[in-house]
Amino acid sequence: MARKKPDAGTEPGTGPEADTGAEPGTEAEPDEPATSESEELLFGGPLRYDIGWSAHEDAFLQLNFRAMLTRLPALLASSFRLARDADRRAAGIVLAAESGRGVAQAVSLLAVNSVLARLVAGGSMADRLRGAAPALIAMAAVLTVAALLRAASTYATGRLEPKVERLATERYLERAAAVELAAIEDDAFHKLLDTAQYGASSARRMIATSTRVVNALISLIAAASVLTVLHPALLPLLVTMTLPSAWSALTIARRRYRSFHVWVQHARAGRLISSLLIDTAAAPEIRVHGVGPFLLRHFRSMSEAQESEQERLAGLAARTGLVAAAWTGLATTATYATLGLLLLTGAMALSVAGTAVIAIRTGSQSLDTLVLEVNSLHEDALFVGDLERLYVEAARRAVPTGGARLPDEPGEIRFEHVTFAYPGSAARPAVDDVTLSVPTGRIVALVGENGSGKTTLVKLLAGLYAPQSGRILWDGVDAAGADRVQLAERVAMVAQDFKRWPFTARVNVGIGRAAYEPTEERIGDAVSQAGAGDVVRDLPRGIDTLLARAFSGGHELSGGQWQRLGIARAAYRRGSILIVDEPTAALDARAELEVFEKIRALAGTGQTVILITHRLASVRHADLVHVLEQGRLVESGSPEDLLAAGGVYAELYGLQADQFTRRAAEPQEPPEPQKQPGPQVPPGPQGPQRPREPQEPPEPPGPPGPPPARSPETHPSPSP
Ligand SMILES: Nc1ncnc2c1ncn2[C@@H]1O[C@H](COP(=O)(O)OP(=O)(O)O)[C@@H](O)[C@H]1O
Ligand SMILES: [Mg+2]
Repeated sequence: MARKKPDAGTEPGTGPEADTGAEPGTEAEPDEPATSESEELLFGGPLRYDIGWSAHEDAFLQLNFRAMLTRLPALLASSFRLARDADRRAAGIVLAAESGRGVAQAVSLLAVNSVLARLVAGGSMADRLRGAAPALIAMAAVLTVAALLRAASTYATGRLEPKVERLATERYLERAAAVELAAIEDDAFHKLLDTAQYGASSARRMIATSTRVVNALISLIAAASVLTVLHPALLPLLVTMTLPSAWSALTIARRRYRSFHVWVQHARAGRLISSLLIDTAAAPEIRVHGVGPFLLRHFRSMSEAQESEQERLAGLAARTGLVAAAWTGLATTATYATLGLLLLTGAMALSVAGTAVIAIRTGSQSLDTLVLEVNSLHEDALFVGDLERLYVEAARRAVPTGGARLPDEPGEIRFEHVTFAYPGSAARPAVDDVTLSVPTGRIVALVGENGSGKTTLVKLLAGLYAPQSGRILWDGVDAAGADRVQLAERVAMVAQDFKRWPFTARVNVGIGRAAYEPTEERIGDAVSQAGAGDVVRDLPRGIDTLLARAFSGGHELSGGQWQRLGIARAAYRRGSILIVDEPTAALDARAELEVFEKIRALAGTGQTVILITHRLASVRHADLVHVLEQGRLVESGSPEDLLAAGGVYAELYGLQADQFTRRAAEPQEPPEPQKQPGPQVPPGPQGPQRPREPQEPPEPPGPPGPPPARSPETHPSPSP
């Protein structure tokens, strides 16, 4: 059996910085941190990076300086595209305002140069000041415009950011909801879902970062051109001064990103533990079994593992920062020494040197900003890249649209040598070479022990999984190539673990066909069809009672009450094929009888009912029974035939009947094979007097194959 990864809730919203985790000194070969005791015990092993999955390695490789610069235009373009999709006007304003600000800075630098040149030029001080006045006025005007542009940009960015995040999140959710069930159950895909959720907030941050990049870029170009004009030697010096901080920012970002990926599952598991501690469903057990301290201890241990990773990263960052600072110091000294030398040798005028100092300062500031911002842009882009990878992967694994038309009223649905194994499970297939028929408009029961493949079989029928081999034919049309929307349209399903939506009772029924308006009449019909009328009547606010206790006014239902609502949901859906997977497991005896009565009535209206239940007494109303064992079909036939055949069905039936007879007989005598009809003996087709014939040599089950040719409608359906 495939071991499933812990099913962790994901909480979008926490930024990647909340989850940075550990990783390995060398970039090439992550030396795996030791697995903590908690991981081993709770999750059965390390929850660390599975590098095999994705193109992340490419992303790491691309995190070098040159790649960063060459990717810059693409990054800016993609963040602008997203912004434009979210709010065209605001995006335009931001772009225009930031470009304007950059130009304004360049102009103001030129104005400074001109002011300085006038001031150090010959003539009286009054003349020099007068000469400088126009440039000063121009500078004031430019700065005013820059301030206005800044205000416009701030406003538009603020408007844009939440929209961008919403849009990215919406696309993420939309695509995640559209993938095949198998993808959602695949842990590798789940990890991608997990990491990609940070893409939206990264996309949001990218907007502001991009504006700063554009701004810094333009003012850097301004400073650099001024410097180049002043003296060609100054530009390389400026670059040399900034390189160390670029290197350090980059190195630190790369470590953070890698670390995030290595630790993302670990972080999720930690959050899972903390959410369990406040979970309503877990609350009773936490209290009665004293689980609190246990979980808390493991929460601490998991958190401590992450803290040590943070510590490791902080240490490395400090070291990298120091090295960078030393290099910057050297480069700065060299720069000013060169300036001094140029002055000494008379290669440069004093006014030019003055402007050069200012230009170097603004230039290196812009370059610093640029490096930092490009770096965070890049880091965010990696997360947005995860999001984009999810888009691609989700599209690849999406439920296909279009396809062959299914017959409107098929006579039967036929499984032909259908085999299906869950991915990753080494054991036998869950459904193994099954050939059977589901005649439409009838009640077909699936019987078998736990794990025999009943649920998997109906999921195959509903199109939730595709068989690995064999075909599922709707009157000759292969469901594999059929229109999946149309297929789903036909099916109403009360799954074994159907969703208990944390909404009102009305929505819990109406969500069976969410496109319909859940009117009083429609809901009322479905509720009464399912026999859920008294469940709803007992609710404090009737059908509009909220069924989530964690909210104010919320109410909790019992398992059996939920099951009746689940059946009401399926009735509301009015699919032509009704699948009920152990619908009565949590029902009391009377409710069970009632529910089967309702289900049979549904079949009477032409619905095909596929019934999975362990209560064989209820199966006797079925027209056709398929018995599964370890994924294989072992018997098929009417309940009477199967009972008479003395195979697996008869044996299971005997066991259940025996339980009741024995219980009823216990007070007086040791178990008797004879009937001792208690009030709840499951009445067999021939009545309660034939619970079991243990002495009968069980017939070897026939080879799996099509059901007996006998037409189901020939069986009289005994009334209860
Ligand atoms: N989502 C799943 N992933 C992996 N294995 C599964 C999954 N669901 C069921 N199985 C396995 O498939 C087999 C058949 O399960 P199932 O169809 O649920 O049986 P039944 O409904 O008859 O109890 C079991 O061995 C079970 O462990
Ligand atoms: Mg099942």
